Amino acid sequence: MPLSLAGKAAVLCSFLCVSVSILSIAKAEDPYRFFDWNVTYGFIYPLGVRQQGILINGQFPGPDIHSVTNDNLIINVYNSLDEPFLLSWNGIQQRRNSYEDGVFGTTCPIPPGKNFTYILQVKDQIGSFYYFPSLGFHKAAGAFGGIRILSRPRIPVPFDDPAGDYTILIGDWYLSNHTDLKAVLDGGRKLPFPDGILINGRGRNGYYLTVEQGKTYRLRISNVGLQNSLNFRIQNHKMKLVEVEGTHTLQTTYSSLDIHVGQSYSVLFTADQPGLDYYIVVTSRFTSTVLNTTGILHYSNSAGAVSGPFPGGPTIEVDWSLNQARSIRTNLTASGPRPNPQGSYHYGMINTTRTLIVASSAGQVNGKQRYGVNSVSFIAPDTPMKIADYFKIQGVFKENGLADRPYGGGLYLDTAVLTVPYRAYVEIVFQNDEDILQSWHLDGYSFFVVGMDGGQWTTASRNLYNLRDAVARCTTQVYPKAWTAIYIPLDNVGMWNLRTEFWARQYLGQQFYLRVYTDSTSLRDEYPIPKNALLCGRASGRRTRPL
Ligand SMILES: *[C@@H]1O[C@H](CO)[C@@H](O)[C@H](O)[C@H]1NC(C)=O
Ligand SMILES: *[C@@H]1O[C@H](CO)[C@@H](O)[C@H](O)[C@H]1NC(C)=O
Ligand SMILES: *[C@@H]1O[C@H](CO)[C@@H](O)[C@H](O)[C@H]1NC(C)=O
Ligand SMILES: *[C@@H]1O[C@H](CO)[C@@H](O)[C@H](O)[C@H]1NC(C)=O
Ligand SMILES: *[C@@H]1O[C@H](CO)[C@@H](O)[C@H](O)[C@H]1NC(C)=O
Ligand SMILES: *[C@@H]1O[C@H](CO)[C@@H](O)[C@H](O)[C@H]1NC(C)=O
Repeated sequence: MPLSLAGKAAVLCSFLCVSVSILSIAKAEDPYRFFDWNVTYGFIYPLGVRQQGILINGQFPGPDIHSVTNDNLIINVYNSLDEPFLLSWNGIQQRRNSYEDGVFGTTCPIPPGKNFTYILQVKDQIGSFYYFPSLGFHKAAGAFGGIRILSRPRIPVPFDDPAGDYTILIGDWYLSNHTDLKAVLDGGRKLPFPDGILINGRGRNGYYLTVEQGKTYRLRISNVGLQNSLNFRIQNHKMKLVEVEGTHTLQTTYSSLDIHVGQSYSVLFTADQPGLDYYIVVTSRFTSTVLNTTGILHYSNSAGAVSGPFPGGPTIEVDWSLNQARSIRTNLTASGPRPNPQGSYHYGMINTTRTLIVASSAGQVNGKQRYGVNSVSFIAPDTPMKIADYFKIQGVFKENGLADRPYGGGLYLDTAVLTVPYRAYVEIVFQNDEDILQSWHLDGYSFFVVGMDGGQWTTASRNLYNLRDAVARCTTQVYPKAWTAIYIPLDNVGMWNLRTEFWARQYLGQQFYLRVYTDSTSLRDEYPIPKNALLCGRASGRRTRPL
């Protein structure tokens, strides 16, 4: 299956040559990395019981993507499942290019037996992210994997090169397959409690990491699960936080770290303990029954296996987590993807031009459980909204179909899009009146998490904002009966999914799209539709380029 170099050049040229030549911005000098991925069903046994998983090139979890800032990633995905499939790239900003985002609002599903080549550029990004399958309930079956973007060679990184750099994907897990879970939700019922937790696709003590005494390692930990916040810790070892979703943080030491669904963190730890084996522990947070799993940290000179109970951690404590979240801040003097310090963008000194208050809605619609945002429960149209926008096909979505704030109306179904002008500077307040933890993600952007606190947000809550060194990231938690506020400079034109990471709720409508819009047709503002874009629904049979 690997293509020859000449073959790669031909494949690349078949859909890139036009765009590369007209888009000097697509910087042909930035390196290309090619991936050929075959997505299939296959049996997996993560909790010791046979299940049908979704594999990429036979792997569960899927292969990692290793890249360097500004690399072009050419990922040809063959869908060998019997249903439509799409991958999305959590945290990859797809600058000027939301067509590649791989969610239903931007990209037509890859039909069974067909392929689609994503053309991504990790423009001006560093850090740790992951990809996942975005349609249906595929995320419950696999096809997720780590994405890392290393700094370019000349850009300083605020810590020494680690002796090893590992992806750690953690998440809650069900023994039921994705079609059965989807059927539960389609039937209007709620999902049961998960059956376990996986570390890199393995159950209890299935994941094994060998280290050498005295050396320092980097772990890039992402919560790729469906719903549960997880606490991560390593027996007898402290972890130094260094990066959160592309931001180098103040290097603070923690004995355990809360990782909410959809989030990614990098930590360093030193194998500075006696030569033994130690537990790597992951437990669920804010649940009455605490799920747990362990992996093994094995010293190469280990004199003995793990034994006895694993170390405890926080379980239902909310304040503990809130305090930890507030302690995670940007190192203003460290470089990000560019040589200049991360703190040179003074996000706190710019006046916001609009405030959105996003609150979750839950209720029954036509006798079935649904979830929404400000009373609107999202339903996917027959044509991706971005593609409808490109071809000016009317009636696919409702522009400004969502209120700027909750107004107490009943929940209803709609294809809601909120149009916001390019370059607006927006404050979004996530208000959580429920007693569960929520996690919200925005595609296409990294946003500043300026504040979070218990209770109801009011304009006076702004006095609590951190306008100096808040962390910029793409997924934020909102504590039970609490709010979280973010600032976003809307400098990336496109159609961007704002969604809960609580996957059952996402599936049942708790999401919408932010349409960052400009009248300009300049390629400096937005790329044209990719030449190889699949076209579906009311765009079927159109042409992506004039003949
Ligand atoms: C994908 O894998 C399946 C099952 O192994 C195989 O039948 C199919 O030919 C593969 N497709 C590609 C494009 O490699
Ligand atoms: C899921 O499991 C059910 C039986 O519980 C089976 O009928 C169905 O084919 C399975 N789906 C997949 C995709 O494995
Ligand atoms: C499918 O893969 C082939 C190469 O095997 C490539 O030429 C073609 O462009 C791909 N299709 C799409 C829609 O990307
Ligand atoms: C912040 O980054 C600078 C520059 O790389 C580094 O020297 C310093 O130790 C870092 N400070 C903290 C608290 O992490
Ligand atoms: C960990 O989970 C297992 C079940 O998977 C349970 O039997 C055990 O009591 C749990 N341990 C702790 C300390 O919670
Ligand atoms: C922000 O708004 C305040 C009050 O409305 C105004 O005094 C100030 O000049 C504005 N700052 C900027 C940077 O526009």
